[in-house]
Amino acid sequence: MDPEVVFEKELSKFYRDDYRALTIKMLNHVPKTFWTAASSRTGKNHPYDEYALAGKVLHTKRAFFFLLQIMDSAAGGAFGNDFTPVNADQCMMAMLVHDTMVGSRAHGPAVLPYFMQRTSIFTDEERELMKFPLKISQTHMGRWGGNYSPRTFLQWIVHLADFLASRKQPGHLILGDGDTDELDYTIRWPKYGTI
Ligand SMILES: [Fe+2]
Repeated sequence: MDPEVVFEKELSKFYRDDYRALTIKMLNHVPKTFWTAASSRTGKNHPYDEYALAGKVLHTKRAFFFLLQIMDSAAGGAFGNDFTPVNADQCMMAMLVHDTMVGSRAHGPAVLPYFMQRTSIFTDEERELMKFPLKISQTHMGRWGGNYSPRTFLQWIVHLADFLASRKQPGHLILGDGDTDELDYTIRWPKYGTI
């Protein structure tokens, strides 16, 4: 699986090249099961079309779409936070890797230690750059994440996007396969322009 092909549209939204390049590198080293896994083992959550081959990838695309919608609002100064394009990159990196530990116990919190342990693959500099985004990713399960529930604004953004995408209905009705050209992937920043 080539992440640059599968997530071409998503990766094109990054503001900084170093975050984009590192996200690609990380996706190239996630457990291979991520690319084929279905979204839900219990059948309680997630749209039905994600209970299939590559369901997790489809879910990731849908969650990413919701993330962009929430970030478009945040970029306009919603909640009075000083949300920047770099924050958006950090959230996007977090979102693209948030479910890559599928199958491992506590798959959300496992994201950070998984990447930190790969010292032969990632440089000290890269691990420093990914640390903050991975802390955002760790709490994506919200109140189902035990000790890893979201506390910061950025953690809430990523959790809410994941949560909305995991509801049974809206994901597949609105978003199709996540690659529809009509989907609006624009973030409008009063301060930084449209990205
Ligand atoms: Fe998820």
